[in-house]
Amino acid sequence: MVLYMCGIIGCVGNENTLEVLLDGLTALEYRGYDSAGVAVFDNTGKLRMVKDFGRVSKITQEVLEIKSSSCGIGHTRWATHGAVTKENSHPHGSEGLQIVHNGIIENHAHLKKELTDIGYSFKSETDTEVAALLLDYYSKQSESKLEAIGKTVKRLVGSYALGIVFADEPGVIYAVRKDSPLIIGIGEGANYIASDMTALLKYTREHYSLENGDIARITAQDIEIYNTGERITRKKLYADWDRSAAEKGGYPHFMLKEIYESPDAVRSTLRVRIVDMLPDFSADELDEGIFERISRVYIVACGTAMHAGLIGKSRLEAYAKLPASVEIASEFRYNPPMLSSDDLVIVISQSGETADSLAALRLSKQMGAKTLAVVNVVGSSIAKEADFVLYTYAGPEIAVASTKAYSVQSALITLLAVRAGMLRGFIDESFAKTLVCELYIDAPSAIEKMLERADEIKECAEMLCESDDAFFIGRGIDYALACEGSLKLKEISYIHSEAYAAGELKHGTISLITEGVPVIALASVSALYDKMESNIREVASRGAKVILITSDTREYGYTMVRLPEISERVSFLPVACVLQLLAYYTSVMRGCDVDKPRNLAKSVTVE
Ligand code: G6P
Repeated sequence: MVLYMCGIIGCVGNENTLEVLLDGLTALEYRGYDSAGVAVFDNTGKLRMVKDFGRVSKITQEVLEIKSSSCGIGHTRWATHGAVTKENSHPHGSEGLQIVHNGIIENHAHLKKELTDIGYSFKSETDTEVAALLLDYYSKQSESKLEAIGKTVKRLVGSYALGIVFADEPGVIYAVRKDSPLIIGIGEGANYIASDMTALLKYTREHYSLENGDIARITAQDIEIYNTGERITRKKLYADWDRSAAEKGGYPHFMLKEIYESPDAVRSTLRVRIVDMLPDFSADELDEGIFERISRVYIVACGTAMHAGLIGKSRLEAYAKLPASVEIASEFRYNPPMLSSDDLVIVISQSGETADSLAALRLSKQMGAKTLAVVNVVGSSIAKEADFVLYTYAGPEIAVASTKAYSVQSALITLLAVRAGMLRGFIDESFAKTLVCELYIDAPSAIEKMLERADEIKECAEMLCESDDAFFIGRGIDYALACEGSLKLKEISYIHSEAYAAGELKHGTISLITEGVPVIALASVSALYDKMESNIREVASRGAKVILITSDTREYGYTMVRLPEISERVSFLPVACVLQLLAYYTSVMRGCDVDKPRNLAKSVTVE
């Protein structure tokens, strides 16, 4: 249940620890990051720390000036709590210790208050510093470091992989894991820790993978692993990755890696906003009263984010009875709606920097509307300028074609719609719990079930890969999904593709359906099966190659991808997964540059 966000590296026993750490940080760059730092013992045994926002190269000079070291930890940070600043970069700690962290400490606010009350002060806005100072506190109350770490982790709620060094114990690294990956590399006269094998391949391939609750004490010669106070052993593993594959975490492309990260990305984004299976946005400092005051919602975004907005619109209207429209950000300024303080403008953006979305946000504010940003990159312009911000926790998205960001954006707005529905009196607590359970528990597992059947989708891609044109059709929410499926396919496979509301076919498009043209038909809503069936028959009788993505259990004789059993209210998540995989495999089969499609950019900062 974890997201690959930050990167951890550590080394003890290697005389070239500084190089190992810098090298490891560079190898972890593929995970995406905005800051980097190290804590190392210099050759006099003094604990030194160097960190800054920006690239690893920015700290390289200062790290190398330490001259030599044989023990230290390092980190690449992807901001989640707190902006991209030097202070928020890792390591964090006190005079006595430094830690690096991957994951999210969910009860950080509560722990921070406790520590502040007993006199601790904080230099950063991060959840990690809370864990560091809590460990500082328990170190002063414990007989041993292991005891102090044990007491600390008992208090932490959330996910964490930690690398720890104590100023009075040079030559020792401690490592902790809960719901966030961490491995120990086994070397000769040196041992290592890392978030994944990528960072260690140059030095060793033998490793242990820590399991939840493990606490390890690592020196140059020894690796001791404890769980619930008992010394235990873990199986020795061997990584036979080649380095280039390892940079993508073992996946051939970032896009595929990111599709596979979607279930955890959805869980991470929702988890921090669910208490007792009910939506709870209190940690987001969202003025929830606005949902009782507003009369309309405008969702503004570009590309895939705009398509996530189409899902958001349907959920806000269904659950909160709020009229909602979706606006293409680049058009918004030239034809702005008559906005007033009764309106809420939701800007959705993975990067938080898309120029048209930012301009639309500014105009909305000028016109007096309240603004809410749904953004993945902490501290980005859109996040900073909106009245309220809800962060998605998708982790870095590197492939130009957006996948996991779409899933988290649509899931988060759905959760918001449930909350708005409760506040507006249209949803009672018991129905809200059902909806949250479907969204948070069932939907990510349904995506996982689809991922297990990726081969079926690969076979469908074979039907598409030699075509010049393709059409996606659907009704209602399936039409919103068709728009995204079509965009995904065209942007990475260069097949001309269009999405149509199935009922519109007869008004023109059907003239384009000829022998062998692929039509991807979406039918995830049972009330619309029969209507979709007649549309499908219309295209099939004109020679279309139909790929039907449906929850319908009847046999139709077309190539079919059956959705896992799941409530229709959240089936948009597994459907999106199928469409993403379909585009991905088609692109691979056509030999396209999947992660960097021609002419496209990940973040469009020009209008
Ligand atoms: C570009 C990307 C898309 C993305 C869109 C909006 O076109 O290639 O994947 O959906 O920008 O980006 P944003 O960062 O605002 O979500």
